[in-house]
Amino acid sequence: MFSKRFKHLTPYTPGEQPQNRKYIKLNTNENPYPPSPLIEEYLKKADIDLLKLYPDPGSDKLRKTIGEYYNLPASMVFAGNGSDEVLSFCFYAFFDNTNGHLLFPEHSYSFYPVYCGFYDIPYKRIPLEKDFSISVDSYIEEKNYSGIIFPNPNAPTGTYLEPSEIKKLMINTRKDRVVIIDEAYIDFGGESAVELVNLFDNLLIVQTFSKSRSLAGLRVGFALGNNELISALVTVKDSFNSYPLDTLAQNAARIAMEDTDHFEHNKTRIIETREFTINKLKSLGWEILPSLANFIFIKKDNITGKEIYEKLKDKGLLVRYFGHSGIEDFVRITIGKKEDMIVLIDLLKTIGSH
Ligand SMILES: Cc1ncc(COP(=O)(O)O)c(C=O)c1O
Repeated sequence: MFSKRFKHLTPYTPGEQPQNRKYIKLNTNENPYPPSPLIEEYLKKADIDLLKLYPDPGSDKLRKTIGEYYNLPASMVFAGNGSDEVLSFCFYAFFDNTNGHLLFPEHSYSFYPVYCGFYDIPYKRIPLEKDFSISVDSYIEEKNYSGIIFPNPNAPTGTYLEPSEIKKLMINTRKDRVVIIDEAYIDFGGESAVELVNLFDNLLIVQTFSKSRSLAGLRVGFALGNNELISALVTVKDSFNSYPLDTLAQNAARIAMEDTDHFEHNKTRIIETREFTINKLKSLGWEILPSLANFIFIKKDNITGKEIYEKLKDKGLLVRYFGHSGIEDFVRITIGKKEDMIVLIDLLKTIGSH
């Protein structure tokens, strides 16, 4: 009844979205603030007749708007149904099992190995440094690989690499392999490596509207890179689903991209709350990796990540615990509103003192 392919699938496990009880949700890196109010205005007035028609398959206006924001022509922009879909198309277009392993960090976004399983791509996890940072040198040392992907800032650690490090990676790695920098969290204090796509034809930057633009529910992500890479993604899209972005999503995402005031205001609030939380938790003896993301990765002696997760959940606060060897003592905590972080800090004060 089921295909051989299907029997081998190992799906991604998303963070819990419980419906039974009201939790303070700090487990899926959602933005605690609402999206641009201009989107609400648009949705209230949207012409219902629009929905009779198929959307623009190329998301042309949205790609143009994203391109203008990053100073790139629309031909260097691809838009998809969340960056998860964009990444999935990238894995299909650029990596296979004939050119060695795909390289990504030992601790990283757990969807990467899932796509590798889906598309039969062998992969190799590259260890992090002792301080959990990514070292581009350890990728440069590799010779036989089908491509490279990592998030910057990395998830779930939050550590960040400057564009100069990405440039060093690009200069010293193979020109016939695609390198993808997944910038899902770049807006929370990091600097995008986007300008490097003009220098390196094999570099692709992937971003999302889900985090810094508060639109996880809208499902819009995008990739920036040279025309050839973007055309390849369009070919994959058109071989799978010509209309991944509905009309409302295309228009709302465009509005979000244009409302730079709202975007700047929210991201600044999140950065400030992150720094406030880090300072408080450090003073309580928690160990926290340096983060330029909208989450922090924390631990404390004499308590496991699982215990922290369970104790917080019991008190009505959800965080993410991975349990993978090497990071089993950590939990990842999304930066929420300041009042939520104050509740968290109070709970961690008690939990950490046992
Ligand atoms: C590193 C990373 N990349 C991509 C995504 C996918 O984001 P979306 O599909 O909502 O655009 C996530 C979501 O958590 C992520 O953590």
